[in-house]
Amino acid sequence: MAFQERVFSGVQPTGSLHLGNYLGAITKFVALQDNYDCVYCVVDLHAITVWQDPAELPRATREVTAAFVACGIDPRKHIIFNQSQVAEHAELAWIFSCVARIGWLNRMTQFKEKAGKDRENASVGLYSYPTLMAADILVYRATHVPVGEDQKQHLELSRDIAQKFNNDFGGSIHSHGYGDAFFPLPEPLIQGPATRVMSLRDGTKKMSKSDPSDYSRINLTDDADTIAQKIRKAKTDPEPLPSEEAGLAQRPEADNLVGIFAALAGIGKTDVLRQFGGAQFSTFKAALVDLAVAKLGPIGEEMKRLVQDPVAIDAILGEGSARARALAAQTMSAVRDIVGFVRS
Ligand code: TYM
Repeated sequence: MAFQERVFSGVQPTGSLHLGNYLGAITKFVALQDNYDCVYCVVDLHAITVWQDPAELPRATREVTAAFVACGIDPRKHIIFNQSQVAEHAELAWIFSCVARIGWLNRMTQFKEKAGKDRENASVGLYSYPTLMAADILVYRATHVPVGEDQKQHLELSRDIAQKFNNDFGGSIHSHGYGDAFFPLPEPLIQGPATRVMSLRDGTKKMSKSDPSDYSRINLTDDADTIAQKIRKAKTDPEPLPSEEAGLAQRPEADNLVGIFAALAGIGKTDVLRQFGGAQFSTFKAALVDLAVAKLGPIGEEMKRLVQDPVAIDAILGEGSARARALAAQTMSAVRDIVGFVRS
């Protein structure tokens, strides 16, 4: 069965947004607007799988919303909203937690990383998180999901859940007139030179909001001086840059910086190396500083301007939530029938 094409993705309002979020996800969100109906969500229900200070969460939610708008997502043409305003996410997540198998969740590497050694003390939500993620996507019957490389396994699980739901309820799906499959198998969109941006301090570790060193990442709200300092201090190796991509193989820090340059410039790594092959890092870093400041500076400024007006941001989220709710309600109404819940 052909499904109407729709894009869905989400970003957690935890810590500050960084270059990894921007290049791995948000730039893709922006690009997809031209060809798809897009739904972009600030996933506050996901955020609380680990402790969030209730006095801080609203600010973080508004900041991610501001980043979406500052990066170029148009909230009139597409939907920007926060997850907790659309209760259908949690409702479908419950049904999916009865479809997903414990064995599937046990394989999730992100849970193992996040829970660490003290697994018994992790929240149940952190463990079942991928079922909520599947619900986020499938409550809009979304077909395409732009994400960074680190979300690939969760996307595969979402596909498994959709497939099992379609199989388990196949007869009911058919008898209610929805054809052979009710949910699409959502396709991950993980492309380009920066699907996994690494820490500036250690090219083998992912750039992350939770790294204790602020020098490991470039935040979207960093000013020009801070961006320049962080790039100048970024770890490198003593060799000049290679002329071919193969020469980056055993050089994680060089590979990372070249990938960042390529993604910011909208070109491939090969093009970057054609320009900078044989150059010292000092030369390359100076060019990277100019490029990063030119691209990120205006976004940071616009974010800072937008967050000054929380009423306007809340209006975007309120309006987006109303539109999202209308779509989600249609799916849930069908799902209740398919599962066999009595409605009176
Ligand atoms: P989150 O909030 O951790 O990250 C948001 C997006 O940024 C990408 N990303 C990166 N990409 C490249 N390099 C990095 N170092 C890097 N760090 C983060 C992530 O892959 C993600 O695309 N579970 C998700 C949020 C979510 C979601 C969804 C996504 C909830 N429901 C449904 C898609 C569909 C998360 O924690 O992303």
